[in-house]
Amino acid sequence: MQRTSQNRDLTKRQYVRFAFYKLDPLWRRLPADEQIEHKQELVDTISQFNRRMLLRPYSTLGTRADAELLLWQIAETPLYFQELASAIVRTRMGGYLNLAYSYLSQTKRSVYEIRDYRHASEEQLVIDPSEAKYLFVYPFIKSRDWYLMSQPARQGIMDEHIQVGRKYPSIKLNTTYCFGIDDYEFIVAFESDEPSDFLDLVQELRETESSRYTVQDTPLFTCINMRLVEAIDALGGPPIATPVAEDEQREVWMDVCPLEEFPSGSTRIVYLEGKQIGLFNIEGKLYAINNRCTHARGPLSEGAVDTDACTVVCPWHYAKFDIQTGHVVDGIASRPVETYAVEVRDGVIYVGIVPQSRAVNGVQKGQN
Ligand code: FES
Repeated sequence: MQRTSQNRDLTKRQYVRFAFYKLDPLWRRLPADEQIEHKQELVDTISQFNRRMLLRPYSTLGTRADAELLLWQIAETPLYFQELASAIVRTRMGGYLNLAYSYLSQTKRSVYEIRDYRHASEEQLVIDPSEAKYLFVYPFIKSRDWYLMSQPARQGIMDEHIQVGRKYPSIKLNTTYCFGIDDYEFIVAFESDEPSDFLDLVQELRETESSRYTVQDTPLFTCINMRLVEAIDALGGPPIATPVAEDEQREVWMDVCPLEEFPSGSTRIVYLEGKQIGLFNIEGKLYAINNRCTHARGPLSEGAVDTDACTVVCPWHYAKFDIQTGHVVDGIASRPVETYAVEVRDGVIYVGIVPQSRAVNGVQKGQN
């Protein structure tokens, strides 16, 4: 039987916020037991928002003098950013956290043609952070002369710019737009495991024609990807993070909702550990897969589900995935999507990221 998700409106532009905090040094003189309590309260408060937005923490301690913590937030509405900011200032540690920089932006399709681009323009609507160790963020403004040039003239200049970018395949660019909703025109965020690649790219771009039209591209933040509890620990005080070996796979679970609120035929999105997960109830069985299609990040929870075959068709370019295994069944995608564990405990649905040997996708409704 075919069915289509009711969540059609989720295929839309995302709102993005980069919030940089700096801790008042006075906090570091508090008694150690208070510091531990403050940090745990802050971690718990921020973690609650994982349900509503994609939240990635980074440390800028040691790379910037005027900021120490970045919370990169991606959501369907900017109202969640306001709620998170308000929740943070109400914590005890929030009284010592100064908001050093805040950038609000939105995803949007580029007006420039990116020839031979391997993915579709829809991909520009969706931020899907990688596990890269570094993130380089800066606001960007172009001169008004740039916008007065014809579209073909700007396209020609951008072609050269794009050509240089292609020499650095290890760098992933996330361009977001803030015309009218913040002081800048763009906020750009580059992901990479290697800062020297990014340095070389920026230096080479200075020699392109498009650089003439840059009015502002600072401040520039070099941010280090880490778990939230580690980024908070980096701020000072006794550590509260449980050490995790580099190659150790952690197990993380999150309660989603009572089973009775998620009947057969339902789909919903869950955010866990910086991943957007699509949860499906197909004929009473629960499945969780990465919500982003491996072709160009299409939202799988919005796709047509075949309940008999247990497959979903990506709404963007129609790649078909097996919901139980994540494997590609048909279409343009070449890689499977990740699957996640689902459990029902005391009538509540839990989604988990667990070592693959323990993952169980496809839990029968009511099963504990
Ligand atoms: S995004 Fe292209 S098939 Fe899914």
